[in-house]
Amino acid sequence: MNVAEMYDEVSGRYEELISDSKYIGPHWIEQKLQSNIHAYREFLDLGCATGPIGAVISNVVPEARIVGLDISSEMVELASKRGVYEQLYVHNLDEPIQPLITNKYDAVTALGFSEFLSKPEQMLKEINLVLKEGGRCFMSFQLHDPSNEKLPRNTYSGSVVHTAYTESEVQNMVQNSGLKLVSLESLCGYVSGRGYECHYIMIEARKI
Ligand SMILES: C[S@@+](CC[C@H](N)C(=O)[O-])C[C@H]1O[C@@H](n2cnc3c(N)ncnc32)[C@H](O)[C@@H]1O
Repeated sequence: MNVAEMYDEVSGRYEELISDSKYIGPHWIEQKLQSNIHAYREFLDLGCATGPIGAVISNVVPEARIVGLDISSEMVELASKRGVYEQLYVHNLDEPIQPLITNKYDAVTALGFSEFLSKPEQMLKEINLVLKEGGRCFMSFQLHDPSNEKLPRNTYSGSVVHTAYTESEVQNMVQNSGLKLVSLESLCGYVSGRGYECHYIMIEARKI
């Protein structure tokens, strides 16, 4: 099973899963937007799934215009029913987002999926290209710590691999992308059904 098939399969249960697992994404982005509310109108939500991040954006910034992308057609179908996205695309984010995305955005959210990408640094470079000057990137990475066996480089959902990164690797990726790091936090991202605590590095970065 590949990542698109896996998320197609869980799409109908996704909202329940994120609630049961205490997934941090929606809560974290809500806090970030509440402290930056005046700056953003045009949003790009990468790996949008059924739209939990879009729903928070629309709640905090009612005039927001949001474009969503996801590899799973079932997720995109459910996101469209939510009514918070101006446009939605089925797209593999391991492929370039331009020329599909030609506008410039005030903020890009990229939460809960970089662990599935083969080149997350390339994703950051693309985000840099589609942000307006001063625009913000909100992104998460699964945390790897070589000195902690509970934070391995790779974990698995069946045959789908999750790749985690160290804090210094994330800092280097942000720097190489041309974005400027505003904040970096290591937090518990979610707790799986088997009790595995998946830690995330949550970053805010700015287009310079
Ligand atoms: C854990 S969910 C996170 C969804 C949402 N961003 C959030 O924070 O709630 C991961 C989403 O990323 C999508 N995804 C995974 N790999 C992807 C890829 N290569 N390209 C586009 N979307 C991908 C999945 O289909 C799924 O909907």
